[in-house]
Amino acid sequence: MNNLKIKKICCVGAGYVGGPTMAVIADHCSDLKVNVVDRNEERIRNWNHKDISNLPIYEKGLDQIIKRTRNKNLFFSTKIEDAIAEADMIFISVNTPIKNKGLGAGQTSDLRWVESCARKISLHAKGHTIVVEKSTLPVRTAKTIKDILFASNDDLNEKNKKTFSVLSNPEFLAEGTAILNLEKPDRILIGGEDKKSIEALVEIYLRWVPRKKIITTNLWSSELSKLTSNAFLAQRISSINSISAICESSGADVYEVANAIGKDTRIGSQFLNPGPGFGGSCFKKDILNLVYLCNYFGLSEVASFWESIVRINQWQQDRIYKKIVESLFGNISGKKIAILGFAFKAGTNDTRESPAISISKNLLLEGAKLAIHDPKVQPSQIQNDLSDYLLTQEDNNKDLKNNKSNLMFFTDIYQAAEGAHALIIITEWDNYKKIDWNIISKNMSKPSWVFDTRGILAKDKINKYGINFWQLGDGSGKN
Ligand code: UDX
Ligand code: ADP
Repeated sequence: MNNLKIKKICCVGAGYVGGPTMAVIADHCSDLKVNVVDRNEERIRNWNHKDISNLPIYEKGLDQIIKRTRNKNLFFSTKIEDAIAEADMIFISVNTPIKNKGLGAGQTSDLRWVESCARKISLHAKGHTIVVEKSTLPVRTAKTIKDILFASNDDLNEKNKKTFSVLSNPEFLAEGTAILNLEKPDRILIGGEDKKSIEALVEIYLRWVPRKKIITTNLWSSELSKLTSNAFLAQRISSINSISAICESSGADVYEVANAIGKDTRIGSQFLNPGPGFGGSCFKKDILNLVYLCNYFGLSEVASFWESIVRINQWQQDRIYKKIVESLFGNISGKKIAILGFAFKAGTNDTRESPAISISKNLLLEGAKLAIHDPKVQPSQIQNDLSDYLLTQEDNNKDLKNNKSNLMFFTDIYQAAEGAHALIIITEWDNYKKIDWNIISKNMSKPSWVFDTRGILAKDKINKYGINFWQLGDGSGKN
């Protein structure tokens, strides 16, 4: 192993992490060939779609980068084995959701995709390959990956033996601002044991990231830093959300409180927006992984500290749903309710762990008819997320005749609100800040309610049209 100059990169997994990350690397490293592979044919077809608006992932600025790099030095394909065989460096960016059955179900990540990916690399890689963990993984997964990678060597003769080094290079991008985060990262974290491999990856980032922002650590510190970083961010949200409830009861206003505490430089002003609870693929999963790890090491007090962050998050979603039902006289059966926003936050089409899912499910259970609007999320995705709670096909056919289907999709906000008893803002999309409440007030059922779980609407603008208004964390009506 003399030369670790990287010429060809492969990324397994063309999802929210793999796609944008590789696009930015390709954009800054025109001399590198970057192959992004995925076993999902439809996803790859969409990444290769002529019409750039059909990319499988919506991220501001991503389409322009894809235009510049695609089929020049960035390639999307399903030829996983070929891409692995020719790569000097392979990023693992596959999904790692929480296990839904078996040992550790509901607590730790399901590593079946990582394992199958490591097995493929082990079989098809040639010579020396640097394997980089990009997906968020439980601490010590690098050990599992190493064990799998080296296993296939047992069957090879000395001449054909392969070598690997494993690095951890967690991604800190946030959806909606992925390109900005990738272009101007707060830091790049690389954990590993082999200095030459670390330096090879550092060299790639140095094309656009200053060296002082690149941190190198041991493998386990890198893996744990990613979990800890997400746990701290989620903790801030649960903290301010818990305060939002005290504000409503005590007469305080959570935005005034957040502003006041955020001025303390030790606290800082970011990530203090109260809301319906954090969503996204990472926060809950990473905290649960941390909790699992704590329990594994017998640190039950530490485990329960972090577990409470997830509990409060669910409680926040539940209390919003209860507030809606109570305000509508304890009965929402057959009532139309408009849900504005289904993505877990603005700027993305991702619905994973979106608070909209649990709030909608509870409303459907109470018999409500939901009219859903989201500027980026496809109705098929929402249908999938709520599938267990929808009327059956048989019910649906029957009820459609009676115009009683319990889920409707709208591309027009005003139509979604027509005849609705309540309108709930769940995602903070900019369009919702510009709604004409005069029109809405005329079309809704009376008494009409607006629930703003994101604090994006002005109370006086809505109240003047005779609409009842509830805003999360606003106790100012209390005397
Ligand atoms: C997060 C981390 O920010 C990122 O570093 C990591 O790589 C992946 O996980 P992401 O899940 O994409 O990114 O979005 P983020 O902006 O962190 O928001 C997560 C959730 O918290 C969203 O549901 C968002 O609405 C919510 N949130 C965020 C709040 O409710 N209030 C805030 O102040 C910030
Ligand atoms: P993330 O948010 O972590 O990027 P996604 O679910 O958006 O997660 O993307 C992960 C991608 O990894 C999916 O498109 C999935 O098809 C792909 N994938 C999972 N396992 C494998 C595998 N063994 N080989 C190739 N692709 C895989």
